[in-house]
Amino acid sequence: MSIQENRFQAIISHAKEYGYVFASSEIYDGLSAVYDYGPYGSELKKNIRDYWWKSMTQLHENIVGIDAAIFMHPTTWKASGHVDNFSDPMIDNKDSKKRYRVDHLIEGYADRLKEAGNKAKADELLQAMDALLAKDDYAGLKSLIEDNKIACQISGTVNWTDIRQFNLMFSTQIGSVSEESETIYLRPETAQGIFVNFLNVQKTARMKVPFGIAQTGKAFRNEIVARQFIFRMREFEQMEMQFFIRPGTQKVWYEYWKQTRLAWHLGLGLPADKYRFHDHVKLAHYADAAVDIEYEFPIGFKEVEGIHSRTDFDLSQHQKYSNKKLQYFDNDINEETGKPYGNYVPYVIETSIGLDRMFLLVLSHAYDEEVLTKEDGSTDTRTVMHIPPLLAPIKLAVLPLTKKDGLPEIARAIMDECKPAFRCFYEEKDQIGKRYRRQDAIGTPFCVTIDNQTKEDQTVTIRYRDSMLQERILISEVKNIVLKAIG
Ligand code: GAP
Repeated sequence: MSIQENRFQAIISHAKEYGYVFASSEIYDGLSAVYDYGPYGSELKKNIRDYWWKSMTQLHENIVGIDAAIFMHPTTWKASGHVDNFSDPMIDNKDSKKRYRVDHLIEGYADRLKEAGNKAKADELLQAMDALLAKDDYAGLKSLIEDNKIACQISGTVNWTDIRQFNLMFSTQIGSVSEESETIYLRPETAQGIFVNFLNVQKTARMKVPFGIAQTGKAFRNEIVARQFIFRMREFEQMEMQFFIRPGTQKVWYEYWKQTRLAWHLGLGLPADKYRFHDHVKLAHYADAAVDIEYEFPIGFKEVEGIHSRTDFDLSQHQKYSNKKLQYFDNDINEETGKPYGNYVPYVIETSIGLDRMFLLVLSHAYDEEVLTKEDGSTDTRTVMHIPPLLAPIKLAVLPLTKKDGLPEIARAIMDECKPAFRCFYEEKDQIGKRYRRQDAIGTPFCVTIDNQTKEDQTVTIRYRDSMLQERILISEVKNIVLKAIG
């Protein structure tokens, strides 16, 4: 296993041990590519969602939110193109019976070439793959796999079936009587709930183009290659925003949202050199331009967010299938014609980020095994999560040095003052060093310790997670120090 793979495995173990992520229904041996979030994981997830929601809605006066249902009228998915087009090219190995997504099979082989120092060949292979995918040339892709002798990782053979398309949507039945029941889908993206509500929102919130509609919520995809922990799940959460604009202005807004979304990531203090843009060669059926924001996870550079110029595809399709007008009357004056812009179907720029993927990004950035040199020259390892304070599940741990001498009472008073403002944690058991290490492993940015001196001068020791620096401050300063860091 490479160092990076080891690191990825260490993050997965740590996430379980410290209550971040558990396999779903683990007592029954789990369910493939489905996960549950534990006490700290659910807090981190909520903090990421809140940070996104606030930056989209509160900080953009022209963006409002909705919360649409997961189930939608089945025609929605016919109109959106998902029934006919939401599929991935797959290939099966005849010996192991294992099914692979074609791009993942080739990319996996390219990664192994790179690891073996053959980057030029890997790049050439990926370029050839992109070109064939863009043309939907499945015979060509199969030849590429065979010519390069890309073998199944289980059987080790190159005995492949032809490439076929598999739809990724989950379906179920609605209605209690079987004759009356109808097939409906679990939404594979939250975006369609926004499109079908376009006029409801525009009219009730009195929005003027350009404006956006934001939404967070669950999406479901029957991913065939479901591994890599929470990177690719069958049930996951998206945070999406559709920005409705005047036709012809899409290039400007696409650039705007590309830069704005990258700035959102960097605003968390995440390192710019771990990010890059990746332009799509093969565009989704609805897009005229698309770019991924990629992050360097321990499993390599991977997509965390997509910015898509969706044209008027979705609104026009829903207009066609529903026979309802989904147009906007723009009474601003067009300088070229001297007349109002009038009625049109708006164009859309979409920003779409996976909440679970962002969660994995934060863990990947934060997880660290630091080697510390002690005064006597011996070494020790500390596992610490450098989670940005704004996102940390617990902001402040309040730790009385002992359980007696009135120290717990002072600590409780600090808790009472701080807990309405942010999430705090109280603990009086164990030696203080052990307690600090536990908070480091959870990612708590601040600990305060109450000792006998506190009774004399109203000061506590504050310990900073990242530097491990300790200093004495007045009790009255504690709350503001934390608020400043998460502000
Ligand atoms: N509405 C557009 C859309 O859904 P997408 O690129 O298919 O576009 C957007 O998905 C984001 O959703 C991705 O960038 C990724 O972060 C997240 N995502 C997609 N599939 C996922 C999966 N199976 N598991 C976890 N996150 C996923």
